[in-house]
Amino acid sequence: MNDSFLFTTEKEMRNWSYQLGRYCQGKELFLLAGDLGAGKTTFTKGLAKGLGLKDLVTSPTFTYLNIYNEGPLRLCHYDLYRLHSPDDLEALGFFDYLGEAVIAIEWAEKAKKILPDDFMEISFLFHSRGRKITVHYQGPLSKALISRMEKQNIETTGH
Ligand SMILES: Nc1ncnc2c1ncn2[C@@H]1O[C@H](COP(=O)(O)OP(=O)(O)OP(=O)(O)O)[C@@H](O)[C@H]1O
Ligand SMILES: [Mg+2]
Repeated sequence: MNDSFLFTTEKEMRNWSYQLGRYCQGKELFLLAGDLGAGKTTFTKGLAKGLGLKDLVTSPTFTYLNIYNEGPLRLCHYDLYRLHSPDDLEALGFFDYLGEAVIAIEWAEKAKKILPDDFMEISFLFHSRGRKITVHYQGPLSKALISRMEKQNIETTGH
C-alpha cells in the first residue's frame, strides 16, 4: 500500500507522526529514507511523543542507536548514516530489539537487504512548499496500525 502527503510545516509532520505513535502496539518498524535535513529525526520526535515518551528525541547520528525505555512503549532510534555494512546492524542489537520495541531507522536503505518484510517505509523529499512524504507499508503489524488509525478516522491517505 502506498500513500503520500505534503507537509508545509515541521509541526504538521510531527502531528502526523504523533498519531502514528499513539496507535503503535510496540513492535512496529519504521524505515526512514531521505537526504540530510529532509525530516527523518523530526518525524521520530513526533512518533516518540505519540508513544508517550517525555524525553526529547535527538539525532543519534554519532551513536547509531538511542534507546528510550522510560515510556509505556520502548523506542529504538537508529541512524545508519555511517554504517559500513548492512550486517553491522545486527551488532547493534537489531534482531534482539525486533518485536520488543518500536524501531525507527534513519538511512534504513543502508541495511535494506537484512531488514524484515513487515515495515512502514517513509521517504522524505524536499518540496518547494515543505516536504513530500511517501509511505509504503506491508505486513500484518503495519497494516494493523493503519487500520486502527482508520477506525478512528485519522487521516492516513494522501492529499
Ligand atoms: N515540512 C517540514 N517537515 C519537516 N521538517 C521541516 C519542514 N520544513 C522545514 N523543516 C526543517 O527541516 C529540518 C529537518 O531536520 P531533521 O533533523 O528532521 O532531518 P533528518 O532527515 O533527520 O536529517 P539527517 O539525515 O541529517 O539526520 C528541521 O530543521 C525542520 O525544522
Ligand atoms: Mg536525523
